[in-house]
Amino acid sequence: MINRRKTLKALGIGALGASGIPGLITPKTIAQHSELATTALNSLNIPPLEEGSITDTVRQFQLTMQRGSRSFLPDSPSETLGINGDYLGPTLHFRRNEDVSLQIHNQIGEPTTLHWHGFHIPASEDGGPHQTIAVGDTWNPQYKVLQPAGTYWYHSHMLHKSAEQVYKGLAGLIIVDDESNEELDLPSTYGTDDIPLIVQDRNFNREGALVYRASYEDTVIGTHGDTILVNGTWRPYFEPQTALVRFRLLNAANARTFTFAFSDGREFYQIASDGGLLNSPVPMTTLELAVAERAEILVDFSDGREVTLVSLGKTPTFPEFPGGMSGMIRSLNAQSFDILAIRPQQNLSGQVILPQRLENIGRPTGIITEITRKIRLSMGFGTRSGDDRGPGRGARNGRGGGHGGGHFSINGRVMDVNYINERIPLYSTEIWELTNTSPMMHPFHIHHGLFQVLDRDGAPPPANELGWKDTVKVNPGELVRIVMRFEDFADPDNPYMYHCHILEHEDRGMMGQFLVV
Ligand code: C2O
Ligand code: CU
Ligand code: CU
Repeated sequence: MINRRKTLKALGIGALGASGIPGLITPKTIAQHSELATTALNSLNIPPLEEGSITDTVRQFQLTMQRGSRSFLPDSPSETLGINGDYLGPTLHFRRNEDVSLQIHNQIGEPTTLHWHGFHIPASEDGGPHQTIAVGDTWNPQYKVLQPAGTYWYHSHMLHKSAEQVYKGLAGLIIVDDESNEELDLPSTYGTDDIPLIVQDRNFNREGALVYRASYEDTVIGTHGDTILVNGTWRPYFEPQTALVRFRLLNAANARTFTFAFSDGREFYQIASDGGLLNSPVPMTTLELAVAERAEILVDFSDGREVTLVSLGKTPTFPEFPGGMSGMIRSLNAQSFDILAIRPQQNLSGQVILPQRLENIGRPTGIITEITRKIRLSMGFGTRSGDDRGPGRGARNGRGGGHGGGHFSINGRVMDVNYINERIPLYSTEIWELTNTSPMMHPFHIHHGLFQVLDRDGAPPPANELGWKDTVKVNPGELVRIVMRFEDFADPDNPYMYHCHILEHEDRGMMGQFLVV
C-alpha cells in the first residue's frame, strides 16, 4: 500500500503554470480584485445526499419536479424550479451494477423531462425530448447503472425549453461509486471532504429576483450571467475541516465556460473527468470546463491559508468590427469571477496523500467495424453563412444562415423530432469527426454512453482529456476526433440525442438524433 502513494508535493511534476498560458488573466491579477474573500456571506449549501430505498435489490427514488421560491440574494424571493426542493435537486447516490428505479412526478405546471447525463442506458429510459412527462404525470425510468464511478448529473431536456427550465433550477448531481474506487481511499465523506460544486452564472433584476431574459444576445451566444451561484448559494464560503479536499466540479451554466484556478495560483490535481477516474492525477493550476463537463480535483489546504476559487477571464482574440457579432464573440468568457471563498478551519485533520495510479483506461483497440461519421456544427448570424447547405428540407433546413441569428444546425440541419439523422449499426466502433464552422466554441455531447477523445487537429489531447468523456469542446475551425463503441441497447423506435450543450443552441436546433439498429 505505502509505495503506491506519495505526498502531493512529491508528485508535483510538470504542472502548467497559469502565467505560462497566453490570454489568461493570472490569479495574481484576480487576487487584487478579489472581493469574495471579505464579502462571502453564505455558508456553501450542500445538496442533500439521496440514497433512495432498496426494495427487492432495486434502489428506488421519489423525485418531484416542483415550483418554488428562494431568496438567493437577501430578502429577494425568486420564482424557481427544483427537484424535491425549491432550486436544483438532491445528489443521487448510485452504485455501479445496481438497478435503480425512479418515480419522477411533474408538478411544475408545464411539460418537462429528466435526463441522466452521461449514463449508458436504453434510449427509452434516457429522459430526452421523447420522454416528455405531461403536467401532473409520473414517469418511471428503470435501468442498471453501468458506468464507472464518477460524477454525473441530471437535468431537464424538454424540447425548446431546456435552457429556461435548467436555468430556473431543474438540475442535480449524481455520484456513482464502485468497489475499485472505494479501495483508493480518496476523500469520500460527502459534505465534509468530498464536496459537490455546481457552478452557474445567473442574472438578477433590480429587485434581486432571478430572471431568464432571453435577449437577442442570449439566444445567439447563450445566456451568460453576471452573478455566480454555487449549489444555489450566492457569495459562498466553505470551511475545510481536512487538509485534503475533493471537489466535484460541474459546469451547470447555460453557456459560459469557466477556467478554474485558485487566487494564490496553487497547484491542484484533477483525478476524474466526465466519466470517472483518470489513469493518474494530473497536476495543474488552471482547469477549463465547458458547459456540462465535470472534473474531480484534489486540493491541499494544509497550509491553513484562506484562498478563493476563481474563474479566470480570457483576453478577447476575435477581431473587432462593426455590428453586433464581433462584440458578442469578444465578450465570451472575458469576465473573471470569484467562485468560492475557502477558509480552512484550525487543526485540519487527515493527511495529504493520493494514489499515483487511479485507473487503467486503455486507448480503444480491437476495432471491428469502423465507421467514420462527420459532424459539422454551424450557426448563422445576421447574414446567410452560405457555407452550410445541408441535405435538409423544410423552411429552415439546408440553409445554415438566415436573419436574426439562431440558425443553429448540425450538418446543415436544424433539429427535427420527426427526423432520424443517423442510424448506427449495433456492434460498431465509430469515429466521429467533429468540426465547427462558427466563430464560437461548442461543447458537443452525445447520449448513449461515454467516448474517448482521439485527437485535436491531429495532436493528442491534453492529459485531462484522456479519460472517459461525454462532452467535448469543439473550438472554431478545429477538427476533434472521438471514438466510441455501440454494442448494446439497439432500439428501432427510440433515438438518442447528440447536441451542443450550450442550452440555447440545443433548444434552437443544434441537436440531432440517432438510432442504434
Ligand atoms: Cu446534458 Cu442531452 O444532455
Ligand atoms: Cu446527456
Ligand atoms: Cu453551441
